[in-house]
Amino acid sequence: MSAPRPSVEPPPPLEAHAAAQGEDAPLQLAADAADAPHATKPTRTIVQADAFAWLAEHPAAKGTSVVTSMPDVSEFPELDLDGWRAWFRETARVILRWVADDGVAIFFQSDVRHQGAWIDKGYLVQRAAEDEGASLVWHKIVCRNPAGTIAIGRPSYSHMLCFSRAPRPLPLRPGPDVLPEAGVMPWSRAMGVEACRVACRFLREETTTRLVIDPFCGHGTVVAVANLLGFDALGVDRSRKCCRAARALVVE
Ligand SMILES: C[S@@+](CC[C@H](N)C(=O)[O-])C[C@H]1O[C@@H](n2cnc3c(N)ncnc32)[C@H](O)[C@@H]1O
Repeated sequence: MSAPRPSVEPPPPLEAHAAAQGEDAPLQLAADAADAPHATKPTRTIVQADAFAWLAEHPAAKGTSVVTSMPDVSEFPELDLDGWRAWFRETARVILRWVADDGVAIFFQSDVRHQGAWIDKGYLVQRAAEDEGASLVWHKIVCRNPAGTIAIGRPSYSHMLCFSRAPRPLPLRPGPDVLPEAGVMPWSRAMGVEACRVACRFLREETTTRLVIDPFCGHGTVVAVANLLGFDALGVDRSRKCCRAARALVVE
């Protein structure tokens, strides 16, 4: 697959999540969403599509935020490291540009070692944000192993970074800067349920977000946790298998 270059021509706006409701019925969730943003049952929509095409065709409605984890270099065997790095930064820029004025974009990214070099994805996302003029709202470290662990392969922590285009007030209820664990991972590339929960709690307590979008939704960890916390959620993934898993995932 060649690195996709998105068109960012905005078509007429639509309520981002309403269009696809017909195909994917909302899941029955054992939601503990008593203090959730909506009184009604949250919806889940999963779309099998290319993320860039979908974002270009669906401008963000007010009250929309993104929580995502962009694909690793290992998912692009046809790209060399520089090619993937360029793809990664451009993808982060597209998401930062896309997000609603009142929303935020939250990225969960795990560094990798590639042929002896440490690839710092937090840095790459920050470069993209700088290019887009977005400001960093917070940067959390999510431990993948207990602090002090010597990691020979994959680094022991992930980055979780939150950006907004418009200035934001100081948080009313600041969360932890270091998460001791990512939580249950429903599959190998998952974001971790606890990390998703921290991200979605921030959206609930500090923003006017109603709809959470994950344009690279994988098996649906973000959308499942967003539903659990009472948000409508929409996930996009190009893989049919991932979409099937994302429609079915229930987390506690
Ligand atoms: C790191 S995983 C996402 C993990 C997910 N957030 C979770 O916690 O379960 C990246 C996903 O991006 C998907 N993907 C890669 N390129 C894509 C594209 N151009 N459009 C849509 N999905 C894509 C892959 O199929 C993969 O499921």
